[in-house]
Amino acid sequence: MVVDPAFRVGPVRPRTFGSFVEHLGRCVYTGIHDPAHPSADVDGFREDVVELVRELGVTTVRYPGGNFVSGYRWEDGVGPLQERPARLDLAWHSTDPNTVGVDEFVRWARKAGVEPMMAVNLGTRGVAEALDLLEYSNVRGGTELSDRRRANGSEEPHAISLWCLGNEMDGPWQTGHKTAAEYGRLAAETARAMRQLQPDLELVACGSSASDMPTFGAWEHEVLTHTYDLVDHVSAHIYFAEHDGDLASFLAAGVRMDSFIDSIVATADAVRAAGKHDKRINISFDEWNVWYQDRAESRPPSGEDWPVAPVLLEDRYTVADAVVVGGLLISLLRHTDRVHAASQAQLVNVIAPIMTEPGGRIWKQTTFHPFAQTANLARGVVLHTALEAPTYESARYGTAGLVDSVATWDEEAGELVIFAVNRGIEESTELAVDVHIEGLHLLEATSYAHEDHTWSATADDDATVLPRPNGSAAVAAEGGGRGSRVTMTLPPISWNVIRLA
Ligand code: AHR
Repeated sequence: MVVDPAFRVGPVRPRTFGSFVEHLGRCVYTGIHDPAHPSADVDGFREDVVELVRELGVTTVRYPGGNFVSGYRWEDGVGPLQERPARLDLAWHSTDPNTVGVDEFVRWARKAGVEPMMAVNLGTRGVAEALDLLEYSNVRGGTELSDRRRANGSEEPHAISLWCLGNEMDGPWQTGHKTAAEYGRLAAETARAMRQLQPDLELVACGSSASDMPTFGAWEHEVLTHTYDLVDHVSAHIYFAEHDGDLASFLAAGVRMDSFIDSIVATADAVRAAGKHDKRINISFDEWNVWYQDRAESRPPSGEDWPVAPVLLEDRYTVADAVVVGGLLISLLRHTDRVHAASQAQLVNVIAPIMTEPGGRIWKQTTFHPFAQTANLARGVVLHTALEAPTYESARYGTAGLVDSVATWDEEAGELVIFAVNRGIEESTELAVDVHIEGLHLLEATSYAHEDHTWSATADDDATVLPRPNGSAAVAAEGGGRGSRVTMTLPPISWNVIRLA
């Protein structure tokens, strides 16, 4: 691999390290919010969760859905607790007690030091209700809804600047699902009205809910044709899983992530050209992760059973899952010129890096580690990396490099960080990087790997596999004084970080 600090993709964007809290399963109730827990604050939020969210390095948190938002009435979640109605959540066949709503969520976000990203319901609702939520949240006072917020205990406006115009409206499962033409018009009118109230909002139009949706591409084209001048971002969602024991394909998930991003960019730029627009639409990759959708724990309850906070989507992640998550982070960083925000779905309990027991312990999943290392160490600019690696053919995603990598360069601190995955299942791989920076020395080199790649963390043991120092890493002056040569042995199925200064 060759890395040169002159060849820059764009800035490392803090919003790349966003996450997602949906009213789904135990993400909110008994996840971030659990008044019975010994560490709960006056609002019922677990302090131990807040601490791990900070350690994870999360920056932005999308709320309140997800499929949930397409049936949500935000008014149910504000005002005196005893007056809030319990409602059926059709998306997840659950009952929401509405104990947590926008005011509590924003208080939690401030406490956790994250930026709230709000979604409006464009499934069962429309322009008027989106405007109401915006007025309630962002107007200082002197109007019916802003004064209601103040009366409810939030004197200061919530000052939410990033808004999603609905969720996955292309999906037939979505309450209030729409065609691209129907959604495009509604998103455009909602965006126009919201900007009449607050012109400087950042708005996200719904893109496709997966790269294999039959309408992918055509959907983005039509939606952006309606909304181009009115929105800033188009959303992207993708989830990966290992299918039928095909680990080689699963490890190549980043290849699909790359091509998905490239296709969305191409479509947005085609609409730009056809409409003779100046600005560019960028991507808010506001749902991505590993998710085993076929497993029983992903199936919502049914029939008469409408539980509060059921166990749903509580995937237990393996070391291999964590390596895939690392690969997806590499893909997001590599596209920092066009991916301007991203949210790993989700934050707590629901396909999450952080797990909690109701009223009890908290623990880190394997996927916590690549996210935390990247969010905490990627700084400055993302560099183009010229990488030559052996390739293999994966059944699902085609040709994949055995190694994938990205580098970030913090000029001010003089720190270069190389993130790399080894997709090799049996073999270690020798990584050699010619860095066009002289006099670098090694600060730290770690690998996240285990001889049993199916190992998962539990509440009893979340520390057997951690990023561990990799003693094979070395730095030498490159011949001719052009820079430094960094070498390291990457273990099979591994996530690796090399810090140099
Ligand atoms: O993150 C879980 C679900 O996945 C979200 O509710 C939905 O938007 C997506 O299909």
